[in-house]
Amino acid sequence: MTVNVTVTGAAGQIGYALLFRIASGQMLGADTKVRLKLLEIPQGVKAAEGTAMELDDCAFPLLEGIDIYDNPAEGFEGANVALLVGARPRTKGMERGDLLEANGGIFGPQGEALNAGAADDVRVLVVGNPANTNALIAQQHAPDIPAERFTAMTRLDHNRALAQLSTKTGAPVSAIKNLTIWGNHSATQYPDLFHASVAGKPAADLVEQSWLEGDFIPTVAKRGAAIIEARGASSAASAANAAVDHVHDWVLGTSADSWTSAAIPSDGSYGVPEGLISSFPVRSSGGAWEIVQGLEINEFSRAKIDASVAELTEERDAVAKLGLIGS
Ligand code: NAI
Repeated sequence: MTVNVTVTGAAGQIGYALLFRIASGQMLGADTKVRLKLLEIPQGVKAAEGTAMELDDCAFPLLEGIDIYDNPAEGFEGANVALLVGARPRTKGMERGDLLEANGGIFGPQGEALNAGAADDVRVLVVGNPANTNALIAQQHAPDIPAERFTAMTRLDHNRALAQLSTKTGAPVSAIKNLTIWGNHSATQYPDLFHASVAGKPAADLVEQSWLEGDFIPTVAKRGAAIIEARGASSAASAANAAVDHVHDWVLGTSADSWTSAAIPSDGSYGVPEGLISSFPVRSSGGAWEIVQGLEINEFSRAKIDASVAELTEERDAVAKLGLIGS
């Protein structure tokens, strides 16, 4: 079986870190052959060709072929997995409305192209920011694709939270279970450790509330800015790694002893308005995400979740007002 994987923004820095991981089999497993379909804007095609040459030079046994496109209709034709990485970044002086509108101009047409030509089993992960709302825009332009196939990435935030808790407690990341990122992939996201365990002990018993509030939450939420400050460029390899993790777990299933985080369409669970693409604690089996049910949400968590969900609602209302989705 060969899986068609479309990657947009393939010539960008995440694309450069991502394509080699996909082609090596780390995303879909060592038994699955892949055909890469790289979608770029015309200015990005030459650089994508260079990356394709390097992919060739890796002689990956699982890589069946690479095609490069500059139009979404061809780029998404037959796609089984679509990783929407390319987006319009916020530039100096750009208001939020301008940013949403510019991205609506990308993700609306891409949703239409997915609707028209993607494979019946297509699964979509939006990485390009603002990821949750871009995913909503694409979804709303693809009425024939089941709504739950549109997801946005909060796995990088989840992995960042694992790393912070591991450093704090001295336990390996493999000993940490059931962390959750709630809400939007933005500074309002809420990394929740109240259901997490570290080597079998409740995480909340191992850390002080002052560390949780003053260190853990802001460090995870502002990690992207800290990486830019240190590296002079935004997170790329860790973002690519998180995209690989997200699709791997979606397609092949999460481990039995823990859950992960992904932004998926809300079914109304935990008071998140139905239809918003919000991060939840999730498990996957049989190729579908399920929201972990029945968690008790304390007052502290409730306020944090509500604040991030309010931001998502505002973004949804803003793109509806701009006519980028129906209201
Ligand atoms: P980059 O600027 O290096 O690359 C973006 C690429 O997308 C460029 O090659 C550009 O030509 C291409 N592109 C732009 N519009 C396109 C379109 N309509 N169709 C196809 N390709 C298009 O950016 P980088 O660092 O690779 O990041 C990509 C996105 O991922 C950004 O929006 C960034 O904010 C986001 N991001 C999201 C994270 C998350 O956790 N959800 C983490 C890190 C980055």
